[in-house]
Amino acid sequence: MTESMERAGVSRRSFIGGAGATAGGLMVASGQVLWQQAARAGTVTAEQVHLTYGADPTREVVVSWVTPTSVSKPQVQIGTPSGGFGRTVPAETRTYTDSNNGIETITQHASIEGLHPGTDYVYRIVSDGETQLSSAFRTAPAGRSAFRFTSVGDIACGDTAFSKASLEKVQFWLAKYPDHKRQSAVLPILWLVQKQEGWVSEPAIRKVADMLSMPVIRVFEVATFYTMFMLEPVGTRALVQVCGTTPCMLRGANDLMKVCKDKIGAKDHISKDGLFTWQEVECLGACCNAPMAQINDYYYEDLTPESLGKIIDDFRAGKKPKPGSYAGRKTSEPAAGPKTLLDPKLYDGSAAKKLKLPNTAPAAS
Ligand code: FES
Repeated sequence: MTESMERAGVSRRSFIGGAGATAGGLMVASGQVLWQQAARAGTVTAEQVHLTYGADPTREVVVSWVTPTSVSKPQVQIGTPSGGFGRTVPAETRTYTDSNNGIETITQHASIEGLHPGTDYVYRIVSDGETQLSSAFRTAPAGRSAFRFTSVGDIACGDTAFSKASLEKVQFWLAKYPDHKRQSAVLPILWLVQKQEGWVSEPAIRKVADMLSMPVIRVFEVATFYTMFMLEPVGTRALVQVCGTTPCMLRGANDLMKVCKDKIGAKDHISKDGLFTWQEVECLGACCNAPMAQINDYYYEDLTPESLGKIIDDFRAGKKPKPGSYAGRKTSEPAAGPKTLLDPKLYDGSAAKKLKLPNTAPAAS
């Protein structure tokens, strides 16, 4: 928290502590949650205030809040601590039905763009002509790469209960360990959560901790350490993970990423149609078939911008493109055909001298 934030009295709750503190839940824009603030006593029309980074965390911030009723002219006034509130950004009003309690919730979202990297800003939420809340934030520093992981906050999530099929698998994994070592099952159980829900939500992390008798922070550590766990929702059709490490990069990974950007949108964010998310990841261990991408559970290899574009189009059309090499080769055999072991005699045993092995004669009776 910066000095200006402290001066402004920002109550930034901790990453975990803040999660789930709001009863209704608020669907936040995709991006890292900067901070969240529960409703203050006496606040009339701005509750559950969230700040999230936009696609570019150095320049974009979305201020979101809930209003108990419709309000007129919801907006955010923003400026710098020294310059005051010089700019007004109107908020967009959306309503949704909370998946947990079925209550209709009115949310306001003010998307602020054109900010400067690593800069302190002050803002105030205004509606019905009155200031509802004033506070401050700081944008991400310049040069920061896109966030690979985001905090989960109290993103509205559906039921965190395991399905019957998942529960059977959970029991399978639990049965592998004695009761006092059940936390050893944390990885496969988190994976089951992700297979069922598409991502690992904060309530699910708490549930797994409870199930394994582990402190929540320990499960959180595991979920945030392993890059295979998605800590925010991803596209419902396909999660495209393009390898950007050296062999793939030298063979055209940057061109593949451009295709993803053109066809899906910003890296690490759900596409507008909600079907896709794409990410750049480190080596996936298929360097012989570079450049490649993992899409959902399978590897797509020897890709070109054209073949990847077609694969994405096919997923969008509801098809299931086949995984494997898109250069027509089998597994990772040499791209221009085999160069060694061309003569079958070298491996079929026909050139070998017949040997009489010891101890092969029938035992004398
Ligand atoms: S560098 Fe891409 S799979 Fe290894």
